[in-house]
Amino acid sequence: MKKRAICLACVLSFSFIMNAQATPRKRLDPGTRTCRVFDYQSGWWGEGKKIFLQRCKTCHTRDNDVGATFLHSESKTPAAWNRVFFKKYPKCYKDGQWGDLNLEDQLLLNDYLYRYGDGTYNPNDEAD
Ligand code: HEC
Repeated sequence: MKKRAICLACVLSFSFIMNAQATPRKRLDPGTRTCRVFDYQSGWWGEGKKIFLQRCKTCHTRDNDVGATFLHSESKTPAAWNRVFFKKYPKCYKDGQWGDLNLEDQLLLNDYLYRYGDGTYNPNDEAD
């Protein structure tokens, strides 16, 4: 009986590890066709987050009065964040709210949102 319980615990933890999403360590940027590696020097974390807070969270907060949905990194999957910056479909982009962000800032912002997108948190990964 005891043996069986240990075995079941093994199988369960093994399948849990196998199912866990990988923490992304790089991103293929479809616009520039470059590979963006998330090392601690590349600025994806500090700079990207700063740009998000300064340029996007001015509107996309809870209970804002400009009609913008609440957004945080986990509002979209990494692939969906890539689409936002590749297709530039949001109304606010078309209205010119962030068209003045230079390419490097857009890449850093995209890196940050991709890296922390929905499903990227993995408690078994030291990178988290
Ligand atoms: C001046 C206010 C404002 C700013 C600044 C702004 N947005 Fe928006 N955004 C809006 C509004 C209004 C909409 C249309 C309503 C909606 O769908 O949220 C929108 C729509 C969106 C959508 C589509 C909504 C969805 O859930 O998919 C995305 C994505 C988005 N914005 C991302 C951004 C990003 C990224 C930034 C920063 C670079 C940004 N926005 C800056 C006001 C703003």
